[in-house]
Amino acid sequence: MAGRNRFNNISSKEWLPFQKSWYLETDLEETYRKNIRFFVKFDWEEHQPNIFFYGNSDKESLFKKVAKEEGAEVFTKIESLTGDTELQFALIDVLDEAGKIEDLKKLLQFNIKITALAKQLKNKIIHRRFISVFTKNIFSKNTYLPSAWDLSERVAEIYTLKDEKIACLQSQLNKESKHYFSTKQDYYYALYFRKDENSGLDYGQFKNSNFFKLNTQQSFFAAHKKPISNWHIIKPPRRNKKEVLHPAKFPEEVVELFLPFFTQKQDAVFDPMSGTASTQLAALRNQRNAYGTELSPFFYEISKERLQNFLKPEQQEIFDNIPKDVDFKLLQKDARTITKKDFPEIDYIFTSPPYWDMLNMVGAENQAKRIKKGLQTNYSNDEKDLGNITDYKLFIEELVHVYRNLIQLLKPGGYFTIVVKNIKKKGKNYPFAYDLGHLLQEDLILLPEVFWLQDDINLAPYGYGNTFVSNTFHQYCLHFQKPA
Ligand SMILES: C[S@@+](CC[C@H](N)C(=O)[O-])C[C@H]1O[C@@H](n2cnc3c(N)ncnc32)[C@H](O)[C@@H]1O
Repeated sequence: MAGRNRFNNISSKEWLPFQKSWYLETDLEETYRKNIRFFVKFDWEEHQPNIFFYGNSDKESLFKKVAKEEGAEVFTKIESLTGDTELQFALIDVLDEAGKIEDLKKLLQFNIKITALAKQLKNKIIHRRFISVFTKNIFSKNTYLPSAWDLSERVAEIYTLKDEKIACLQSQLNKESKHYFSTKQDYYYALYFRKDENSGLDYGQFKNSNFFKLNTQQSFFAAHKKPISNWHIIKPPRRNKKEVLHPAKFPEEVVELFLPFFTQKQDAVFDPMSGTASTQLAALRNQRNAYGTELSPFFYEISKERLQNFLKPEQQEIFDNIPKDVDFKLLQKDARTITKKDFPEIDYIFTSPPYWDMLNMVGAENQAKRIKKGLQTNYSNDEKDLGNITDYKLFIEELVHVYRNLIQLLKPGGYFTIVVKNIKKKGKNYPFAYDLGHLLQEDLILLPEVFWLQDDINLAPYGYGNTFVSNTFHQYCLHFQKPA
């Protein structure tokens, strides 16, 4: 079993599955073991591997048992780390503690305490080795507190935020409530930070933000019956020829997951960046009215065709032949210029933005494959296309500006869902989802996020033998509500 690679002792067969950005957790022991085996190199410079663990006493015993079986020494107290003790890995598991805190102020204090611990560990952790934090967002007293995002931001001021994995638990049924969009809270975040040359530098663009500057008012939503799981594995049907032309279409099934929670029949559903009109198709096939805009004339035409085929296959002009029981309108225009006059009052906005300028990163693997097949790799070269803004901060600001403008079309109490993911670019993690969640909280009520998990893509061995880089197969469905 002599060192198989520079980073750890596992084979490529074991490396690959660990890189999936979400996992089903049946057994915590297994999770600890996988993390230790991934982040610890056992025959490194003939030192015995030392690792640090923070967690409640039951978890501490479990972790120690696993570490012993694997051959690593565990420290659980800062004081016992003597002058020359070097750590290869640290795992801070705050799931039990954080889960019990219901008070906002106490939660903040707790996050500050954990951040201080992470800071104390910094000079003990070996350069380019990892520290992981297992944490979760908290839904307490009808208020959603994105505690994990807050902690992530704090720890990223000390280390480099490299990655995250979503641990999916088999449904733990949460208390039912008719008063808010309630989720089962059957997941947690495994956040991964690295001590490296970039640590603490230039984290995010919205530093000093306060995730708890919350609009805590939760409105009553009558149609809501049951809590929904926080994660859903969605296997979309194969895309047809026209749909494949769009580089970032989401499956209609994702929209359909939420329609029953946030809308009723005949409600108005809207997407300002429609792409191939997946939102509108899903809305129409569930007897909701469908509205939207799309900048690219190319995708606008594809949308028209898709909707045409759906609505009345024998009719050519859908815009003149809308079935009596559903209303429909799609405009080809820049989402920045939408006004109240363009559409009726909207009940539910469902949308997914360009993921910054990632489609213009031609080196990316997916792009290379599309080029080979002669397919379009970006949405357009139009400068109005938000996917062509290269500066991250500017991109977010423009996007938030579009969303803020849309709030005027949304009826009070109406819902707003954004499908988005955090972005890894040139070795850096941009918490796009957290940033949007945070910024939009100023105008909207933040509700629990739900993950759309992808399970139909082959894993690629990024970073093999050198470092941890996950394959991001989880997308955030961020939910908001307009205050009533
Ligand atoms: C992630 S894609 C949406 C995909 C869509 N949900 C689907 O399933 O086909 C983002 C879309 O935003 C559009 N877009 C970019 N900038 C825009 C703008 N300023 N106004 C309207 N649409 C824009 C792009 O053309 C692209 O189709």
